[in-house]
Amino acid sequence: MSGELSPIDRAKYVAAKRAVALVEDGMRVGLGTGSTAAWMVRHLAEVVHEEGMQITCVATSKRTADLARDLKLTVSTLDEVKWLDLTIDGADEFDQQLNLIKGGGGALLHEKIVATASDRMVVITDVSKQVSQLGHFPLPVEVVRFGWETTKTLIEETLINLSVVGRTGRLRVTQGGPFVTDEGNYIIDLDLLQIENPRQASLVLNQIPGVVENGLFIDICDMVVIGNSDATVEIRDINTGSIKQEQVEVITSANVFSDL
Ligand code: A5P
Repeated sequence: MSGELSPIDRAKYVAAKRAVALVEDGMRVGLGTGSTAAWMVRHLAEVVHEEGMQITCVATSKRTADLARDLKLTVSTLDEVKWLDLTIDGADEFDQQLNLIKGGGGALLHEKIVATASDRMVVITDVSKQVSQLGHFPLPVEVVRFGWETTKTLIEETLINLSVVGRTGRLRVTQGGPFVTDEGNYIIDLDLLQIENPRQASLVLNQIPGVVENGLFIDICDMVVIGNSDATVEIRDINTGSIKQEQVEVITSANVFSDL
């Protein structure tokens, strides 16, 4: 990597590096999706190769699996590994209880399956993702393609009974048409603005036929590592209630970053 990291990349770098320090030899590790998770995969590859660790990874998306394989990490399937010791992933929003909105990158379904099948889920993030109430970030809902417009209407009608501020959804599109997930589904992004009761919203949304999964992660995240541009991190553990501040060393000349 040539040159200095931008402030946001420095925050992601240090959060990812600190979380990778939780990985131990022999672990089965879930790899998240997104730009912060990509930093984590690079740090993990560096540590695994430098220390000769044996770890098995399960990726939450094709693009993360491709990156991990490029960096010579061992990537397996969840069906082979069955259960994971630790999953490290990014998030789009997190609140005081470490409930999350995820799926901005479109991988929420595999992310939720992998995180739920882990002894511990650690979220790596910067402070901009912290909110007092979830909902400002559009909530992604993965739906099957068959009848998606009817499903979208049903979702919007269901929102009338929920304590949210906004109640509209839109199909996620890319340049080439609708965004298609790794499972071949569409995503409806919901502009809810504020979600009073995320647990109830998650349950209600998942009862609608055509909905595969939503991006609310309730009681799944155990720890959040918040990176700052000054290379400090704050580590919050929801199980112990502990909050720690640490400094992380930034080295941008390592091989795993050479293509950035
Ligand atoms: C991927 O589907 C998402 O859940 C990501 O974890 C989330 O969008 C965070 O991505 P960044 O790290 O790129 O902000």
